[in-house]
Amino acid sequence: MVASGKGGTGKSTLSVLIGAALAARGERVLVAELDVGLRSIDHIAGAAGQIVYDVGDVLAGRCDAAKAVVESPLYPDLYLLAAPYTNGRIRPDTLCAFVQGVRPVFDTVLLDTAAGLGAPFLSACAAANRALLVLTPDPVALRDGRTVCDALALRGCTDTRLLVNQTPRALEGCGVRSLDECIDTVGARLIGVVPFSDVIRRAGQTGTRLPVQSRAWRVMRAVAARLCGEDTPLLIR
Ligand SMILES: Nc1ncnc2c1ncn2[C@@H]1O[C@H](COP(=O)(O)OP(=O)(O)O)[C@@H](O)[C@H]1O
Ligand SMILES: [Mg+2]
Repeated sequence: MVASGKGGTGKSTLSVLIGAALAARGERVLVAELDVGLRSIDHIAGAAGQIVYDVGDVLAGRCDAAKAVVESPLYPDLYLLAAPYTNGRIRPDTLCAFVQGVRPVFDTVLLDTAAGLGAPFLSACAAANRALLVLTPDPVALRDGRTVCDALALRGCTDTRLLVNQTPRALEGCGVRSLDECIDTVGARLIGVVPFSDVIRRAGQTGTRLPVQSRAWRVMRAVAARLCGEDTPLLIR
């Protein structure tokens, strides 16, 4: 599961791009967006306008997962199940059943949760075996991240990793002294550092592919490699 506490930290963007990087390693990856009313992964993954059924339809049993899932036209082997605009109810039991059902088909399922500690977060906690906390390096996001980290631990999730996103060249300007301070505030091990990048923002906003030659794509590949247990550098030039 991908969580944050605070909104707008980059959960959906990184769910798609790290999912894409895992897919580029040969995995079959599904990103399911658990954010009722707000949909964005279809756009980021270049599939805007192609969504007929959504997470709400699948969890309510109105449609088979196989019918609702759409492959990204930008990133081969990356599949999407977008959030419902309305009528979506995310519950732990139906989400767990859904994840169990798709496990034979996908190597990795990324549950892109909504901000806060509501139903999407609680349901994902029940279904996931690992949590990625996507946080921006600012005091409020980090403090919220700590709350989320504690909530995850309370629910038995001991494998929580911190992904610091939208990192500027110098951290001082955002009220945070160092990456160590981020790690200490949140209380989770670091799995990656993603720079603030116009390339990432543009790709997400225009629904176009992250250029293969870009530093941003190398960063995504490195995070994907570490998620698979490889020892790659944390800071990519
Ligand atoms: N590393 C980054 N560099 C620049 N902009 C980013 C980065 N990550 C995310 N963004 C931008 O931040 C905004 C919020 O991202 P989004 O993925 O929608 O956040 P969330 O899902 O956590 O609400 C979007 O405009 C997105 O393009
Ligand atoms: Mg989102």
